[in-house]
Amino acid sequence: MVVESHADGVKPGQVVEHFLGLREATVIDAAGVVAIDTDDLPAEIYLGVLGATGLTAWLGITQVAPVRSGDTVFVTGAAGAVGSIAGQIARLRGAKQVIGSAGSSAKVRHLVDHLGFAIAFDHHDDAVGERLAQAAPDGIDVVFDNVGGAQLEAAIGHLRVGARLALCGMVGQYGGREPHGLRNLYELVTKRATARGFLVTDHQDQLPAFRAEVSSWVRSGEIVHRQTVLDGIERVPEALLGLLCSGAPAIGKTIVRLQGQA
Ligand SMILES: NC(=O)c1ccc[n+]([C@@H]2O[C@H](COP(=O)([O-])OP(=O)(O)OC[C@H]3O[C@@H](n4cnc5c(N)ncnc54)[C@H](OP(=O)(O)O)[C@@H]3O)[C@@H](O)[C@H]2O)c1
Repeated sequence: MVVESHADGVKPGQVVEHFLGLREATVIDAAGVVAIDTDDLPAEIYLGVLGATGLTAWLGITQVAPVRSGDTVFVTGAAGAVGSIAGQIARLRGAKQVIGSAGSSAKVRHLVDHLGFAIAFDHHDDAVGERLAQAAPDGIDVVFDNVGGAQLEAAIGHLRVGARLALCGMVGQYGGREPHGLRNLYELVTKRATARGFLVTDHQDQLPAFRAEVSSWVRSGEIVHRQTVLDGIERVPEALLGLLCSGAPAIGKTIVRLQGQA
């Protein structure tokens, strides 16, 4: 929330977003802030489903690996911030079946019971390749991958001809973990597949178009979004470690609430 302003169009009391990262207070040029509408939506939603998280999901599903009507879609890390929104946008964009993987039975239940995933499974308990073969015997059209490694390899092993893969992240390999060498990349050749990496930071200009489409689904309740909130800047390490640990309890977007926030 703006405390003091000497710029036209930015008023004290107004809620704005910026891209300077996590901080309790800052001095910033007016050109670096965007006013957000908190009349009927809570401000923190602009950090999650209507923020960079949601934009990442929307870009992947609509442009990087566009989902078409009737597609079978597989989302890894599906109960997380990006994955949970990607799976729902895929369904709303006409996917026939959305399959998700997650790291606990509670997350798997959440995907099916609340987010409309057709099938979900715990990637710890099950052989991912076997689960995909059962869930999608005719193969997968679109993969939205947040994890990399063994799950990506399993997905590549079950592609349909012409499949598209949005390579969003590889959280399974962050933090100095041993890289997982994919052994079946030749399948991308035989399936005439397209695999594209992307970064949301290259696409900030699409924020208005994304918000125009997704905010109506949020308001209508067609997109369900959940947050895990930790209070205080001292809890940032705990929040970060939770993201790097599969099976951690956080579902949806993890947010650290700072003192002084409205
Ligand atoms: N391309 C972009 O511009 C962009 C933008 C934002 C985020 N991302 C990427 O998107 C992915 C998701 O980010 P997020 O913010 O939405 O995080 P998140 O999914 O809310 O949290 C990360 C989740 O990853 C899973 N995980 C952690 N370690 C794992 C491991 N070793 N093996 C398998 N799964 C593991 C855990 O879920 P389970 O407990 O369910 O296993 C964890 O909850 C990340 O790779 C991130 O880097 C990319």
